[in-house]
Amino acid sequence: MCGIVGYIGTRSAQDVLMSGLAKLEYRGYDSAGVAIMDGQGIQVRKKAGKLANLSSELEGAPLPGTLGIGHTRWATHGLPNDTNAHPHATEDGRLVIIHNGIIENYLTLKASLVARGHVFKSETDSEVLAHLIEEKYEQTLVGGQVGKLSEAVRLALGEVRGAYGIVVTHVDHREIVAARTVSPLVMGVGQGEMFLASDVPALLPYTRQMVFLHDGDLVVLSDDGFSITDLAGNAVTREIDQIDWDAEAAEKGGYDTYMLKEIFEQPVALTNTLMGRLHDETGEVNLDIGLDPGSFKRISIIACGTAYYAGLVGEYLIEQLARIPVEVDVASEYRYRNPLVSGDTLAIVISQSGETIDTLEALREAKRGGARTLGVINAKGSSMTRELDDTLYIHAGPEIGVASTKAYTSMVGAMLMLALWLARARGTQSEAQARELLHAARALPRLVEEALAPERVERIKQVAEKYAHARDYLFLGRGVNAPTALEGALKLKEISYIHAEGYAAGEMKHGPIALIDAQLPVVVVATESRLLEKTISNVQEVRARAGKVILLLSDGDTENAQHADDVIYVPRSHEMVSPIVNVVALQLLSYFTATALGKDVDKPRNLAKSVTVE
Ligand code: F6R
Repeated sequence: MCGIVGYIGTRSAQDVLMSGLAKLEYRGYDSAGVAIMDGQGIQVRKKAGKLANLSSELEGAPLPGTLGIGHTRWATHGLPNDTNAHPHATEDGRLVIIHNGIIENYLTLKASLVARGHVFKSETDSEVLAHLIEEKYEQTLVGGQVGKLSEAVRLALGEVRGAYGIVVTHVDHREIVAARTVSPLVMGVGQGEMFLASDVPALLPYTRQMVFLHDGDLVVLSDDGFSITDLAGNAVTREIDQIDWDAEAAEKGGYDTYMLKEIFEQPVALTNTLMGRLHDETGEVNLDIGLDPGSFKRISIIACGTAYYAGLVGEYLIEQLARIPVEVDVASEYRYRNPLVSGDTLAIVISQSGETIDTLEALREAKRGGARTLGVINAKGSSMTRELDDTLYIHAGPEIGVASTKAYTSMVGAMLMLALWLARARGTQSEAQARELLHAARALPRLVEEALAPERVERIKQVAEKYAHARDYLFLGRGVNAPTALEGALKLKEISYIHAEGYAAGEMKHGPIALIDAQLPVVVVATESRLLEKTISNVQEVRARAGKVILLLSDGDTENAQHADDVIYVPRSHEMVSPIVNVVALQLLSYFTATALGKDVDKPRNLAKSVTVE
């Protein structure tokens, strides 16, 4: 996350940037900064901490000028201090950039820039862009005239691997150049003025004419308008949308609910979780964790609710891939069961909010027993992060919908990375296996995007509506997808209030089978896996008792479709990463069931987003 604003026109740039940043502070508040062009050059002001710190600084000494860029940061590389805050300028201060995202090959780029004499001020990956664009700009200078900024940005981005939304200004030009890949950017079109932002609410006070930039778009904003090209320099046409959303709708990005918005944000959230951490060419897993992965004999995973189910997937992955014994506990049980903990235990707590009191107290219990502690956390600066030895942030961005969706897939993504990190340190996977898994993990954002294709969403809606009046639901899955069934059942009961049970498919015959009759929809996660045949046997047991079978099958599996009343196809994925792809269909199934029943999915009854009571 991180928020970007840009302005060129006739108003005070400082006012536009600061009001826009206030609307984007939800995207991060580790530091904030602006760069504003006046008659003399580009003035940069940046401050660690919340936007209010920058505001007070500017109140004392406002910056004049009608062209500027601004940023509110959620730190990924480098501490959240004044120096690492954006914008970043070149040594001569003539070129200034803001970057949202992660430059994966920044260390290589930085080394060669330093070798060519560039001096870096910050520890960020972003500063690389300022120096690289400066070099390219010099290459576009012909006979001492001014260079071509957009060309320089384009050439620099050709050397960059990763995710970015960037905005660039240069003293020689009254223009802003921006580009995006993965990180969002929307452009606002005014009369004699142009705007840019990471999200619509920042622009609504000024214009309703907006252009949503696509991946690979490079745009030049001037006082008179804008032009867009792709990264090869070919002209691109994008429609200007008239945005009629009110402020609340804008915060939901045009979706009816936060939950739906967050379901659709999963490809980007996962990109942010995985980005810069898995390197499939070298097989490296770089999690920036100080703990020694070779020093643990056992792992204890502790969490609540949806996060607990992410922990169950984690148990499976860590035991399979890294061969370390893992136990998973519901936090409220862990803290009172007098757990056996020792110095060679790694306690991993998983939490979106980082505030859940049961998990926090369980963390304290693990610490009392001498365990070393690692958090898989979304909310920066939350209570747990202050007590953990180390934190692996999932970078899913703020989750507002009470029912967790994108935090879940990002948590499972983080558990997958931890399993790979431990496996690498312990040498439990061959080079070829490790590479295959890294490759499968890196494919996840694309696969989840595919899982959200309109025709798939429509199909899930049909199935949801068909069974929306069921009194109960059963969800089954096996192996690494047994927790997917549990999470599917939890989501359904949370937002639709339909009673749902999740079970390991093989366990059904030991009890829940008694529930099956012609009224009971049974959702079975039966995607490609080494246990698929066994799962299909369980499906037959349901059918023999007249249960209604809804099968989640891998694309192309027409053979098993014959066992279903209804089929939901999902993209094929490596079994070890499939819980992330498969759960998306179950999130949508719950969502459309709840909306068919007219429920308030963002604020389900009796629930709270952050549970800080025992
Ligand atoms: C379910 C849900 C809850 C949370 C649980 C833990 O959709 O959101 O079950 O997962 O309350 O919350 P965190 O992850 O904030 O510790």
